[in-house]
Amino acid sequence: MKSIRKAIFPVAGLGTRFLPATKAMPKEMLPVVDRPLIQHVVDEAREAGIEHFIFVTGRNKGVIEDHFDRQFELEVTLKERNKIADLNLLSSVLPEAGTASFTRQQSPLGLGHAVWCARELVGNEPFALLLPDVLVQHDPGCLAQMMEAYRSLEDNANIIAVEEVPPERIHQYGVVGIGKSKGPCFAITDMVEKPKREDAPSNLIITGRYILQPEIFAILEKQTGGAGGEIQITDAMIKLAKQQPFYGLKFKGRSFDCGSKVGFLAANVAYALARDDIAPALREEIKALLGK
Ligand code: UTP
Repeated sequence: MKSIRKAIFPVAGLGTRFLPATKAMPKEMLPVVDRPLIQHVVDEAREAGIEHFIFVTGRNKGVIEDHFDRQFELEVTLKERNKIADLNLLSSVLPEAGTASFTRQQSPLGLGHAVWCARELVGNEPFALLLPDVLVQHDPGCLAQMMEAYRSLEDNANIIAVEEVPPERIHQYGVVGIGKSKGPCFAITDMVEKPKREDAPSNLIITGRYILQPEIFAILEKQTGGAGGEIQITDAMIKLAKQQPFYGLKFKGRSFDCGSKVGFLAANVAYALARDDIAPALREEIKALLGK
């Protein structure tokens, strides 16, 4: 059965929208409830069947690598105190030995460039790309839904997760044009980065989860800076779409843009309200705050 084994997690960005929190700490380590963003997204990938986790990191991002390693002193202390549940929690975070790779993007030249930095680790096979600052709340997760759809498509298919936004927000995103349906997907006829509302081909935006073919690397290799001087993944996908089919999947669930303050705060509330151990107390706190 056709499957995707590897996933790229680009974590080398500067996180300027979250300064000063992200001055010394990576944005991807901001916690949603009690797990850092990157952990939520790695868990989504693992659940979808990903076997190899590729992180594109940068300066000041070493703590992400540490998060996916053992914490020897902490483990010893927890063992001495017989805190078995906490110990089990720590080991559930650990990827199996040899299944996580880290490479550096020496300068944050854009998402497309970060993906290109992972080319040697991915090799010549299709891969998943997950942006860690986008969380999708649903069971099964967004990538698992995409994997399921991918199995019914041609071998050289690419898939982008898409969702609807209100027309007044369209100009902030990459937007796709809608063609013929194919199973749960539709053929993408067009991709436009940050269009004016009246020029947008639809109200479906690109949402931070992709399944891409390795031919994207050769395109990225030759690509120069696009919008904002950055090497954009959308520009490379537009070129790849001339050679290979691209599909959109309207996933089930709700996404949170945790790169923005409001999106991040909303994600914390939504994820906490989904937790039996936290929701009742939080509901009371929210009621009290809103009552004032
Ligand atoms: P964003 O554009 O949301 O992240 O990229 P950013 O640039 O860090 O944030 P702001 O806009 O300055 O606040 C989405 C993901 O791609 C990574 C980021 O780390 C983030 O997880 N990224 C972005 C890279 O790895 N390298 C880049 O050059 C740009």
